[in-house]
Amino acid sequence: MITVSKTASGEPLFHLRAGDASYAFSVFHGFLLHLYCGPAVADDDLEYLLVRVGHDSVVPRPSDTPEGWFSLDIAPQEYPAYGTGDYRPSALMLRHGEGSAVAQGSAAVSLRYVSHEIVPGKPSVDSQPAVYANDGEADTLIVTARDPSSGLTVRLYYTAMRALPAVIRRAVIDNTTPAPVTLERVYSASLDFAVMTEPAELLHLWGTWGRERHTERTPLAHGSVSVSSRRGASSHHHNPFAALVSASADETHGTAVGLSFIYAGNFEILADTDPFGSVRLMAGIEPTDFSWLLGPGEAFVTPEAVLSISGEGLGKMSRTFHRLYREHLCRGEWRDRERPVLVNNWEATYFRFDSDKLAAIAKDAADCGIEMLVMDDGWFGCRNDDRSSLGDWFVNEDKLPGGLAPLVQRVRSLGLKFGIWFEPEMISPRSELFDRHPDWALHTEGRPLSVARSQYVLDMTRSDVRDWLFGALSSVLSSAPIDYVKWDFNRNLTEAASLSLPPERQGEIQHRYVLGLYDLLERITRAFPHILLEGCSSGGGRFDPAMLYYSPQFWTSDDTDAMERLDIQLGTSFVYPPSSISCHVSASPNHQTGRATSFVTRGHVAMGGAFGYELDLTKLSDEEKDLIRQQVKDYHRYYALINRGDFYRLILPSDTVNGKTGSCAAWMTVSEDRSEALVTFVVIRGSIHPVYFLKLEGLDPDAVYEDEGTGARYGGSTLMHAGLNLAKNWRDGESAVIHLIKAPEEGL
Ligand code: GLA
Repeated sequence: MITVSKTASGEPLFHLRAGDASYAFSVFHGFLLHLYCGPAVADDDLEYLLVRVGHDSVVPRPSDTPEGWFSLDIAPQEYPAYGTGDYRPSALMLRHGEGSAVAQGSAAVSLRYVSHEIVPGKPSVDSQPAVYANDGEADTLIVTARDPSSGLTVRLYYTAMRALPAVIRRAVIDNTTPAPVTLERVYSASLDFAVMTEPAELLHLWGTWGRERHTERTPLAHGSVSVSSRRGASSHHHNPFAALVSASADETHGTAVGLSFIYAGNFEILADTDPFGSVRLMAGIEPTDFSWLLGPGEAFVTPEAVLSISGEGLGKMSRTFHRLYREHLCRGEWRDRERPVLVNNWEATYFRFDSDKLAAIAKDAADCGIEMLVMDDGWFGCRNDDRSSLGDWFVNEDKLPGGLAPLVQRVRSLGLKFGIWFEPEMISPRSELFDRHPDWALHTEGRPLSVARSQYVLDMTRSDVRDWLFGALSSVLSSAPIDYVKWDFNRNLTEAASLSLPPERQGEIQHRYVLGLYDLLERITRAFPHILLEGCSSGGGRFDPAMLYYSPQFWTSDDTDAMERLDIQLGTSFVYPPSSISCHVSASPNHQTGRATSFVTRGHVAMGGAFGYELDLTKLSDEEKDLIRQQVKDYHRYYALINRGDFYRLILPSDTVNGKTGSCAAWMTVSEDRSEALVTFVVIRGSIHPVYFLKLEGLDPDAVYEDEGTGARYGGSTLMHAGLNLAKNWRDGESAVIHLIKAPEEGL
């Protein structure tokens, strides 16, 4: 619900209620000033929250605001523009072009409110991933502001979800001036928390290849604390997410405002603290190699930024993201369909396979109840290692005699679905494609091209390249009944210039690359709607909300070690729902870490998300195959609970339990009606006489739950306040899964 009231000076004050959160801002002498973002507040009259104290006599102030205290440098703004007195990081920075009413080459902009409109639901966004919502599910406020001197217009979109404490923002820059403008920085969202009532921290997800999305909390500092990517992809290194959290906040208590950016490319999320303690939180396209020439009459639409607002800790912030992304961002036939349990041959064979080997794996898979075989890298061109053939998307008949169709036929005759790996955006210098089209690689004339994994990146800004790719992928996908595609992306951009654009537009390439990627993904998902698309980028190097718009699941990390996966998967859960987190049981000792972990524990950890196997089934013992049969059964049994339930992190590997850090991890999911729950507990490092009381969350306090394994009964409130008693001498790498079912009324 969005209410509009009037301030003392008769200007509008907007109060957006999203679930149990409030977001409010008002107009003051035409400036859009932020008032509040947090747990729901009852009053609409929130103008009193404006701090009317001038702090500094030397700061400039707009010539037409009579109040002596008012300065843009301290005003809590909604979309601060550069050059007119706010010296903090700006959301908008541009240069006015020839023919402008203001000096050519100048950068100053001052945005003033013009009008607003409220529409039911959420207007759709063309050609970019975006949250979607029907009329009854959300309300959208569109505020139009203008720079009176140049005539430039900005439209700010705010969607308040009705059932979730989430506000989705984006900005549209309309060049309503007679001259071109060059955008140099155009962020999607910015808001100023004028007074932090307690010290705040920034929580974010950092990592690298094989070690993605580890959590870190860092105190804010005067000046900026930021996370970003300049790699051309959202990256392994930082995820496009950060949360402003109160220092005392934990999973269940305290304020947390999460900011997640729906973009697959360069981004920045920053928190800037001014000398008076006001914190500016913002998200947008990283400006280092960004500029955009906007002609008169043209519009630039930013990606969306999502705020998840929680007054009850980090767990609730995450559950809001989970539901929003599962139900209002992921799309397509596979959004709600039960995903097949798959076996991927990558860690089973790497590049050394042929039809017979794959058929042998498929036979054992079928025998164990696995439902899909995924053929990974190495089936095309002359690809026997990672040094050639990307772009040569035709079958290597030495490996797969007769092409794809006979193999797919063999696999399907065993009752399995078939999936295939592609890395569409890449080109190997050793490939037929590169021989024909050397200019299709992103490159800078006169400068050698950097290689990574012996490959270059295709120029996705070019429509001829995208048309060719669409044709090449379509012909493979139409050549046999294919149910799944793993879409990989194994290097980042360098020397990112393009022959397709004039010199003054070269700063557009990185963003146009991302738009080109979206275009190709949209065409493929429309042409092959039955295909389950799984994103991948050397593991989780592009695990972001934009990719989830096209692929409802993403390969989480190339590190498949169950213990390492605890950090990775639980870190990923801060934003992304379990249904999107791809997890496979792989061989022991693990190929990345050499660590041995029991089959049971590997299964328990992999069941934290979209479940599968990644090992040579033909080498397993009968006992291990029996365990697979049981795991597949369990996975189907708990599918709805894991994928549609509410997720609670109970213990992170980085937590200290009984004086020991890094000793265990635990999480649980609870069905929406709270009638059942699945608790997973993993011991990373066993020790003598540990006492593990595991306090549960999200249960019905008044209900009685039965532990299906032992028959023991507990009150919901007992499990949440006193906890499960898990005390025993746990061994390294041991784990337990406990299924709790609400008992009939007769009680304990
Ligand atoms: C990437 C992926 C792996 C595998 C290889 C194949 O590293 O993350 O899962 O597909 O590529 O080359």
